[in-house]
Amino acid sequence: MDIQVVDTPLGRYRDDAVVVFAAQGEKITKTVGSAGRDFRGGYATLVADAAFTGEAGQVRTLSARKTERVRTLVLVGLGEASATTGESIRHAASSGVRAARELGARSVTLVAPSGRGPTFRVDAVAEALVEGSIQGLYRFETYKAKPSKDGIDRISVLVAPASAGRARRGAREGQVLGDAVTFARQLGNEPGNTATPTFLAEQAAIIAEEGGLDLRVLEEDDMRKLGMGALLGVSQGSVEPAKLIILTYEPKKRSGKRPETIAIVGKGLTFDTGGVSIKPSAKMEDMKFDMCGGAAVLGAMKAIAGLKVGVRVVGLVPASENMCGAASYKPGDILRAMNGTTIEVRNTDAEGRLILADALAYATSKMRPRPKAIVDLATLTGACVVALGDGHGAVVSNADPLAAELLEASKASGDALWRMPINDIYRAQLDSPYADLSNLGTPGAGTLTAAAFLEKFTGDVPWAHLDIAGMAWTQKKTGHFSTGATGFGVRVIARFLQTRGA
Ligand code: BES
Ligand code: ZN
Ligand code: ZN
Repeated sequence: MDIQVVDTPLGRYRDDAVVVFAAQGEKITKTVGSAGRDFRGGYATLVADAAFTGEAGQVRTLSARKTERVRTLVLVGLGEASATTGESIRHAASSGVRAARELGARSVTLVAPSGRGPTFRVDAVAEALVEGSIQGLYRFETYKAKPSKDGIDRISVLVAPASAGRARRGAREGQVLGDAVTFARQLGNEPGNTATPTFLAEQAAIIAEEGGLDLRVLEEDDMRKLGMGALLGVSQGSVEPAKLIILTYEPKKRSGKRPETIAIVGKGLTFDTGGVSIKPSAKMEDMKFDMCGGAAVLGAMKAIAGLKVGVRVVGLVPASENMCGAASYKPGDILRAMNGTTIEVRNTDAEGRLILADALAYATSKMRPRPKAIVDLATLTGACVVALGDGHGAVVSNADPLAAELLEASKASGDALWRMPINDIYRAQLDSPYADLSNLGTPGAGTLTAAAFLEKFTGDVPWAHLDIAGMAWTQKKTGHFSTGATGFGVRVIARFLQTRGA
């Protein structure tokens, strides 16, 4: 995608389509008029008929004669000006470019909306417009005999000359983030028979090559030597070999202090049948998305390489299938994780915490220098979908400052998070009569007992867990959503690391 920032006055501007944004009650008659004479009458009629009010999500298109400089005008509502957020601008941009694409435009210009407050800072607006457009145009068509013929290959953001420099910086950031999120969405949408642990390791190699990252992939033999009995236990029922992907980003040396290291860990369970504790058939196909935490880590690593953040980041993805067969691990089996903890398997469907256990133990005990913080992302529990639905991912953390940083990054990035508690009430629910720990909590608060389980493998490193089970994929088709993987987590992690390294 070709992305550019332009500052030519709209009246002299030529493009296939122009998108104009309006908040409720905002007067955009002048902007509409300068886009082309033909649009004035149509716009006046839409307003008179209350067919365009600027309500959030409203999209109206107007066409002009071939002789006009701009053929298609797309009007997109932003909703109430005071309630506008970066995320609502992203959704609006997505809707706008999609409408333009439907009318055959190959090249689209978005007129940067203006307004009061930090949301309307021109760099933030340009970031949101570009990221939203890239996300809105993403389609998963890899396996379609006839991929769509329409397509947009250039997006321009139109701003006032004085703000072009700042807008350019924002647009570049939006492009990096948009590309990283769509990369994660593509990985998530790939079916389980393509997206195997080996495939994820290959994709990590592509990111490493592009972004100048260091890549190390631990094979099952390496895992055995390290004593990763929990990850190996989950994987033993599968013919696909497990991988532990480790990507390292080194910031450019800056004079002064050594940059701190942050570890991010993502559940890369490439298909979750539930194992011997098998899942019901209905919706089991959705369990191809059980690697979306891992995809978010890979996407975030791609993003931070593009954004050149100031911290050292290690991204770890334990990747495995969870299958049921003659070689599978069974309820009652006792596994020994890398940190020596023994785990009684009460339910083979609670496998995510097992593969994460060894990756977390590796991050806290093997990495040098030791990480200053660990954040993990996982489609970990159905209970999280019950608790928060598709409105928020859960943050569970034993480190208040880290949780606060993530919530801040959540607001700024559009990846919505809500904090949930962890304390001795939940920690006490993992006792096993036979081993150090059970992989199943007592009934209730499944998200929190799962988090309490993970915590046992994080040593004394400040840690936060993001349960993204309700957010990783969607049926929605509005705004920047399309059916399938959302790339949730890439943006909040990228923003968190950007702020850490600032
Ligand atoms: N991958 C699932 C969690 C999940 C379920 C994510 C539905 C998104 C939608 C996870 O491995 C799992 O099966 N968890 C069990 C844990 C239970 C056995 C303690 C669950 O949530 O039912
Ligand atoms: Zn499971
Ligand atoms: Zn799972």
